[in-house]
Amino acid sequence: MRAVDIIIKKRDKQELTSQEIEFFIKGFTNGEIPDYQASAFAMAILLNGMTPFETADLTLAMANSGQVLDLSKVVDIAVDKHSSGGVGDKTSISVMPMVAACGLPVGKMSGRGLGFSGGTLDKLESVPGYRVDLSTDEFKKQLKEKGIVLTGQSLDLAPADGKMYALRDVTGTVPSMPLIASSIMSKKIAAGAQAIVLDVKTGLGAFMQTLEEARVLANLMVDIGRLAGRKTVALLSDMNQPLGSAVGNALEMVEAIELLRGRAPQDYYEHCLHVAAHVLVLGQRAKDLDEGRAMAQKSIDDGSALEKLRVLVQAQGGDVSYVDDVSRFERAKYVEAAKSPRSGFISQIHARIVGEASVTLGAGRAKKGDPIDHAVGFLILKKVGDKVEAGEPLFEIHANDEAKLAEARTNVLSAYQFSDEFVPPLPLFYE
Ligand code: URA
Repeated sequence: MRAVDIIIKKRDKQELTSQEIEFFIKGFTNGEIPDYQASAFAMAILLNGMTPFETADLTLAMANSGQVLDLSKVVDIAVDKHSSGGVGDKTSISVMPMVAACGLPVGKMSGRGLGFSGGTLDKLESVPGYRVDLSTDEFKKQLKEKGIVLTGQSLDLAPADGKMYALRDVTGTVPSMPLIASSIMSKKIAAGAQAIVLDVKTGLGAFMQTLEEARVLANLMVDIGRLAGRKTVALLSDMNQPLGSAVGNALEMVEAIELLRGRAPQDYYEHCLHVAAHVLVLGQRAKDLDEGRAMAQKSIDDGSALEKLRVLVQAQGGDVSYVDDVSRFERAKYVEAAKSPRSGFISQIHARIVGEASVTLGAGRAKKGDPIDHAVGFLILKKVGDKVEAGEPLFEIHANDEAKLAEARTNVLSAYQFSDEFVPPLPLFYE
């Protein structure tokens, strides 16, 4: 078999066999198939799609491209949560400590920013010293001893996805249903999750823009999970506007920490309680969503979730004083409030435009391996449905470069639309 023939076959819209997919993924993992062929392969998949069978084969080939963890001796049920990617989505950083504080051990391997969407690892790294490169032995040990792990994809787990993810970020091949489904599910399967809560985003700032597409992606991932013998639930949540207020790594980290002190924008708070409730039910700690929600709320009220975050940060070498005092986070040189050009009700804040603007400020990468600026980003002060007066601050720009600040101001102002009529707030979840 030759990689080029497999690329040509996909380019010509033919269905690949399990053997061809396995050959390609094996070759890419061990370096025999170079990045440029893998990029062409990803683009052919993006343009021509894959059948559910091909997607399942791709998922399993990527899951089996390295070690597959068995956590059955470490925890009674290994639960995981994953978002399909969005703007301002720092949910894992708040939800993992909440559920761990409720007695459900959680170990999660997260990703870096992808295209315009932020990545949990980049956010966590705004805490100096925080390690995201735990080995699988360290992962298991910490999960058993501390009940919480939030790290990067270990090099020996689904390495094919690790390599492919970095390539997709910089080759315009992120928004592809089979690539997203196989990327997410291969990691979850390889990381030993027995139960998985998927937060599938839909809207202007999601890879799946319509509810219909998001539903197809959700069903595809649930089917793959079940095929692999994992209990899998998918939620469809809104990503038309950024979630919460903060967009940008350190800013989001601060918002995620403050939620655990009970201080967070209402939409983000509600979103986290709902996701945590689902994780607690799937992890058999709560009998239903109401109980799960009450448990999650209590973990905030009694400070146990914040304490779990301290445990996590300390265990992974991070400076815990940042959790105790969020004013320690690196702050951008220029902070400016952008004013509303008119009065009215906000009818849209185009999340992708905000995400792209944050990448331009330096919060994301333009090419593989680029460094990122943790301090830059936005605080969205007014959300869809809010009534504003002309001249009122709409959002805050945090920048380290004056020209980029001006560009970001123009771009994010263009993300806003207004109406003279009342506009209801956006729903948080659709299904
Ligand atoms: N999250 C992932 O892990 N992979 C994707 O492809 C998209 C979002």
